[in-house]
Amino acid sequence: MQRSEGRRRLRVLVTGAGGPAAIAVMQSLAEDPAVEVLAADMDNWAAGLYLVPPSGRAIIPAGDAAGFAAAVADQCERLRVDVLIPTVDAELRPLAAVRHQFAAAGVQLMLAPDRALGLALDKLALASACAGHVRVPRTEAYPVADPASWSYPLIVKPRMGSGSRDVSVLGSAAELTAAPARDGFLVQEFLPGEEYSVDVLADAGGRVCAAVPRLRARIDSGVSVAGRTVRDDDLETFGASVAAAIGLTFIGNVQCRRDRTGQLALLEVNPRPPGSMPLTIASGVDMPKLALAALRGADLPVHAEFAETAMVRFLAERFVTVAEVEGVLA
Ligand SMILES: Nc1ncnc2c1ncn2[C@@H]1O[C@H](COP(=O)(O)OP(=O)(O)O)[C@@H](O)[C@H]1O
Ligand SMILES: [Mg+2]
Repeated sequence: MQRSEGRRRLRVLVTGAGGPAAIAVMQSLAEDPAVEVLAADMDNWAAGLYLVPPSGRAIIPAGDAAGFAAAVADQCERLRVDVLIPTVDAELRPLAAVRHQFAAAGVQLMLAPDRALGLALDKLALASACAGHVRVPRTEAYPVADPASWSYPLIVKPRMGSGSRDVSVLGSAAELTAAPARDGFLVQEFLPGEEYSVDVLADAGGRVCAAVPRLRARIDSGVSVAGRTVRDDDLETFGASVAAAIGLTFIGNVQCRRDRTGQLALLEVNPRPPGSMPLTIASGVDMPKLALAALRGADLPVHAEFAETAMVRFLAERFVTVAEVEGVLA
């Protein structure tokens, strides 16, 4: 990365540097010579740390650890961060809780407003907030009052889960009744059809300027390893409607699936950049770049177009000294 003469570059810290979402954001922003990309993760083996110079790396606690937000604030001060972009679900609420402190310290947070975060991070609240905007599968808190009133199979999953953890399919009312008591779970109508992820870009006021649907062709350990973007007005409108209904800002991801009649129905919203961001960028909408511009006060285009594109992925290696891996600062 070339240092531009004179003007200080905008220092942007991206968290979750071990994940594909962070790496996509970092690679997009690093193309801008006016931006200096910095990387943070809880794990000193996180690959993205080694895509930036040693002076731009930071180790931070897990998002749900006590003292997480204060530790991130310290790193922002140490690294003279101007913009913080979190990419990890567990980090979003703790950062939102102290967003005024970041603002006071001169750090701009790329983070959805509290209402959007509250809805996107609780699938039961999301379902009720989006009913009336898009088709929402029947969703109730677990345990349900009347198991006989449901069609089977159905889905039981955590209200606040991620990464497909603890999602189960139950085949009958007897199975549902016999299932162990589980706090914080919900019961949802099973959607048997094709599944899509719609990446959404909105400005700081929540005006949606792009919705790019993706079909996940192959998934390995919860990560899409091959996929394609899809031009489809229904999918684009679906993603944009959900984002607008909850007030999502910057980059988010709306997941949906077709019901037995083929109609699109809502699964969940991730209020952060998704791991398949490179495909959306390659399709023509560079969401990280545009979201950063929006955060900095620029106007976004009214509508950003994209072209259908397919993606296959592979692992890539970086080689660094052992001392570098052992020496990242916490
Ligand atoms: N109602 C549903 N019908 C069919 N499949 C579902 C349903 N809910 C979840 N799934 C499956 O489980 C996966 C994970 O569920 P999701 O709601 O996306 O939660 P998370 O990704 O946060 O764990 C989905 O990608 C989908 O394949
Ligand atoms: Mg999901």
